[in-house]
Amino acid sequence: MKIKMFSGEKLPLEMHKVRIVQKLNLIPIEERKKAIEEAGFNTFLLRNRDVFLDMLTDSGVNAMSDNQLASMMIADDAYAGSETYYKFEEKLREILTLQYILPAHQGRACENIINQVYVKQGDIVPMNFHFTTSKSHVTINGGSVIELLTEEGLKVNSDHPFKGNLDLVKLENFFKSNGTANVPYVRVEAGTNLIGGQPISLDNFKNTIALCKKYNVRTVLDASLLQDNLYFIKTRDESAKNKTIRDLTKEICSEFDIIYFSARKFGFARGGAICVKDEKEYLKMKTLVPLYEGFLTYGGMSVREIEAITVGLDESMDEDIISQGPQFIEYMVNELVKANIPVVTPAGGLGCHLNAKGFLPHLGSKDYPAGALVSALYLISGVRGMERGTLSEQRNPDGSEVYAEMELVRLALPRRVFTLSQIKYAIDRIVWLHKNKDLIGGLEFYDEPAILRFFFGRLKPVNNWPEKLLKKFKEDFKDSL
Ligand code: F0G
Repeated sequence: MKIKMFSGEKLPLEMHKVRIVQKLNLIPIEERKKAIEEAGFNTFLLRNRDVFLDMLTDSGVNAMSDNQLASMMIADDAYAGSETYYKFEEKLREILTLQYILPAHQGRACENIINQVYVKQGDIVPMNFHFTTSKSHVTINGGSVIELLTEEGLKVNSDHPFKGNLDLVKLENFFKSNGTANVPYVRVEAGTNLIGGQPISLDNFKNTIALCKKYNVRTVLDASLLQDNLYFIKTRDESAKNKTIRDLTKEICSEFDIIYFSARKFGFARGGAICVKDEKEYLKMKTLVPLYEGFLTYGGMSVREIEAITVGLDESMDEDIISQGPQFIEYMVNELVKANIPVVTPAGGLGCHLNAKGFLPHLGSKDYPAGALVSALYLISGVRGMERGTLSEQRNPDGSEVYAEMELVRLALPRRVFTLSQIKYAIDRIVWLHKNKDLIGGLEFYDEPAILRFFFGRLKPVNNWPEKLLKKFKEDFKDSL
């Protein structure tokens, strides 16, 4: 924290003021119980009007700045050749340094194009860690993913500042044993989402690229969470202390062959793009943009969003702006650690991640502990998180479960959306829930889709634990919502 309090308290002080607000509702617990039952104990299926603090994701729901909103008023609406698009393209060249740009409507649309072009049957894509959509796009094209995260990355609790690092020894061994003929690219995910928004170090970025160059393998950066990763490099790496965010971005990005991102995260609006170093590679992907996304000068995005992303990208180079998320998350994580609540440490970007295995030690993976915990939290608080555990995995072809390595409940903090008192409310209810954790039971499916079951699947509690939890809540909180 750059601004110190006289009291000594570590406070994440907002470097912005709020000028447009949205009214929230906190419906009574009886209604929340009805809402979560109707949603099949799946927080994706809740209606937003029944949610008090929406911590499902930071995707497309970050607060926009006055300058972003103003820019949307001057967008140049044209199917082809929009001035808005040329500004966007120039901004990406300036910030990320790669010269050839392809627009797409969101991150997974970029993944669709990249993987259709590069991945074929039997290919293997090494990566520090998978993201749900990035893996699905590899597998749907006949490839498979190999995760080469350093061991530290899968430890729920650690003091390692860069848990997202790719293990270079494992990568080189893989190149040696497997060869590189079926390796279309190596994917590096900044701010590694599924292990708790954990960053990659500056050295690890550079050394990964150097190793891939040695073996002549293409490198792809998923920059969706780059802004958090930049903040962590700036604040956790001594050698980066005197570098600007802009210079660090260039240092990381300039050597990648391909960079893509979800502008629902990077750029604080809604959209995406693929940036390519080499013209030949760009030409391989170019024709798929009009096929799937839209013409080359909008790529499925509204021009208003493109204007907002262009401003948002510039703002992502401002340390005051990109520090808000990580500092609020750090505050939340530290307060929960003080209360002995099992959370992923160190604090990462994206959100605060509760460790459901530690929170509910009496449940096994088959009980979907992260799913049970996220439902219980909604019930007692109106806070909506996201299950990131076994429910988010897909069953093996023989129907057996794939138990997730980590059972996490993600409480995302969309940037500049929540106030500190709202965060304190969430902490308070999590602490209460932890004290009453023994009341929480497991879940079981009654409607399980074959793919992406976490989006649409419906479950029910294995016994009447929601009633018990409601009763205890009423005893303790009386007429409080
Ligand atoms: N890569 C990463 C690292 C992501 O976090 C996401 C999305 C994508 C790619 C796909 O981008 O949603 O624009 O198609 N993450 C969202 C989340 C969905 O909630 O974490 P998209």
